[in-house]
Amino acid sequence: MKVLVTGGAGYVGSLMSSKLHDAQHDVVVFDNLSTGKKKALPKSVTFYEGDIGDEKILNDIFQKESIEIVMHFAAKIQVGESVRKPDLYYRNNVAKVLHLLKTMLQHNCKKFIFSSTAAVYGEPQYLPIDEQHPVNPINPYGSSKLMLESILADYHKAFNMDCIILRYFNAAGAAIDGSVGEVQIKKQNLIPIVLDNFEHNRTTSIFGADWNTEDGSCIRDYIHIEDIVEAHAKAMEYLSRKNIFEIINLGSNSGVSVKEVISIISKITGRKIDTKENPRRRGDAAQLIASNEKAKRILGWKPVNSNIKDIIRSAYRWHFNRKY
Ligand code: UFG
Repeated sequence: MKVLVTGGAGYVGSLMSSKLHDAQHDVVVFDNLSTGKKKALPKSVTFYEGDIGDEKILNDIFQKESIEIVMHFAAKIQVGESVRKPDLYYRNNVAKVLHLLKTMLQHNCKKFIFSSTAAVYGEPQYLPIDEQHPVNPINPYGSSKLMLESILADYHKAFNMDCIILRYFNAAGAAIDGSVGEVQIKKQNLIPIVLDNFEHNRTTSIFGADWNTEDGSCIRDYIHIEDIVEAHAKAMEYLSRKNIFEIINLGSNSGVSVKEVISIISKITGRKIDTKENPRRRGDAAQLIASNEKAKRILGWKPVNSNIKDIIRSAYRWHFNRKY
């Protein structure tokens, strides 16, 4: 199939683009390189540099490339930043995407796979969180993703746009073959931050040790990017059917606390990790753990690389042997 991957030079998008390319699909990557790296992509992948808000480039791409399906990864993705700069999140994650959807419709491309997030659920009412759980985001990042989900539901009804919305829990780890890993210079997520602090002998802050959890630190459901990419491949297969609109969690069904992550990193590095307990971070939920039953049932997907030790080992290898 001819697939447009927006944000296809980013952390998850670049692994997706490489896997699609390996599987002989025709891949077109569209990325503004704000965080993505061209080096993360196989040389023969068609690449366009630009922003999803730029209708002119979008139109050129759809005219030239006969795109059949869009995988939409391009987004601002940091919870903390979204609280400080909500404008950035609503512009990039909602307003600009309307241009992409408009261009798709103009070119009769009606298959869309959307990278959404567990942040749409907010503070959980029960665990594990299934897709029926009420949505009540507690930060602008989650709100912006939920807004696009609603827009897609309406586009499905009005324009027959077939959509699969994948709500990622905590994407983590690096490609098993070492080719791709997180791309941010300034580390943004827990595992890369702890590895970076370890490398530079800095102390890691634990944001809140007074949460209502066993060890007082937040619990998250870490899901390996290899598993996320595999779920997209299965979603793409599923989208060959007609009249599809599905929302599906991508998680591992198990939670790990911040302190446990730090302790595993300490074992893998063979050194004590210096930590200090800081106040809670605004916009955080105490626990996020996915039910992945629907992904199993609908897509025939289950995570196979998401054991937390395997995730951290892959992130560690990437951190000290990164290709870009
Ligand atoms: N944390 C620390 N110290 C740090 C960094 C993070 O204690 O230096 C804590 C956070 O407070 C949180 C946990 O580690 O409790 C994980 O934090 P991340 O920033 O790595 O990830 P988030 O859970 O905030 O968010 C991530 C993605 C979102 C996604 C969410 C879904 O960044 O895009 O997972 O579960 F929505």
